[in-house]
Amino acid sequence: MSETLVLPTRTSLFHVIDPRVFGRPLLDELCSLATRVRQAAKTDAGARALRDLLPTRRAMLYFTQPSTRTFLSFNNACHILGMRTSEIRDPSTSSEVKGESFDDSIRTFSSYVDVIVMRTKESGRAAQAAKLMNGIPRPVPVINAGSGSDQHPTQALLDIYTLQRSFEEAGGIDGKVIGMMGDLKRGRTVRSLCYLMRNYSGVRLVFIAPEQFAMEPDVKAYLDQHRIPYTETNNLSDALPQLDAIYVTRMQTEWDTAGESRAIDLSRFSIGAPELARLKRDAIIMHPLPRGAEIDPSVDQDPRAMYWRQERNGMWMRVAVLIKIFGVENRIDEIERV
Ligand code: CP
Repeated sequence: MSETLVLPTRTSLFHVIDPRVFGRPLLDELCSLATRVRQAAKTDAGARALRDLLPTRRAMLYFTQPSTRTFLSFNNACHILGMRTSEIRDPSTSSEVKGESFDDSIRTFSSYVDVIVMRTKESGRAAQAAKLMNGIPRPVPVINAGSGSDQHPTQALLDIYTLQRSFEEAGGIDGKVIGMMGDLKRGRTVRSLCYLMRNYSGVRLVFIAPEQFAMEPDVKAYLDQHRIPYTETNNLSDALPQLDAIYVTRMQTEWDTAGESRAIDLSRFSIGAPELARLKRDAIIMHPLPRGAEIDPSVDQDPRAMYWRQERNGMWMRVAVLIKIFGVENRIDEIERV
C-alpha cells in the first residue's frame, strides 16, 4: 500500500492513508497544533480568525460506511476552518448506481473539491484513491477515515493526542503500559494505533482478547520488527493493575458471518465497578466509540474515563490535520495574537 503514498515530513502532509508513515516529529507537531487551535477557538476573535484560514477550500466527505464521530468531527473541523463541505453517505444517491466506476467517481469528486475524506467498507479503497490522484494533473489529498477492518489513521492520531494530553504531567507516552481489549482481530482502530507506537520509547502493549479475536499476525510482526514488546492474555483481571491506559473496543459484529460475536462471554472483556477497583488511580480508560456493553455507563462518572474527551479531541486533531495538509500552520501564530 505504502508505495502509492506521498510520505509526510515534518513540514508537509498530503494523503493520509497509512499510519506507518507518521514519525514522531510530525505527531508532536500535530498534537501541538491541535492544542493551539482549540485554545485559539475559545475566543470569538480567535474562532473568527480560524474561519478565515481556509475559506476558499472545499472538502468532499464520502462516507459509504456508517459513521457518527468521524463524519461529524471532520465536517465540523472543516467548518471551524471556514471550509465548505459536500457529502455522499448513501451510494444509492450517487452515479455509482448507474455503473460509474470507483475511480471515475473519485476523479469526479476531485474536480469539485480540494480534499477527499473517505470511509469505505472495503479495505484499500483510500489507498486506491490516493494512487489515482497521484497520476492525474490536478491531484487532491485523500484522507482515509476508516477502510474496512484494516486502518483508521486519523483515529490513531486522535488516540495519540489523547494519550499525550493525559500523560502530559507524567512523562508523556514514553514508557507507558497500554492495554488494548476486545475484538482486536477486526478492529481497525487498534491496528492503526499499534503502528504509531514505534514512535514512543519504552512502551509495552498488553492485548486482552478472546483467542478467536486476538491481534492479527501482521500487526504482531510489525511490533516485533520495531522491538515493541507485547503480551497476550484473556485474563482482564490479572492484566488491569499494570496498565497506565486501557483502550477498550467493542465486538465488531458487522463483520460476523455466522454470529461469531455471540459466542463470546463479553463480561470477561468489559469494564465495570470491579474492574475500576483493580485499575491504577491515575490510569485512563479509552474507547474509540461507539460502545456496546463492554463499558458500563456508570464508568462515565469515573475521572479515569477518557472516551468522551477522546471523542472531542478527534475534532481538534482533524483540524490540525487539515491545517497541515493545506500548509497554513504558520498562520496560527498570528491567530494566537488576536
Ligand atoms: N470512532 C469512530 O470511528 O466512530 P464512528 O464510526 O462513529 O465514526
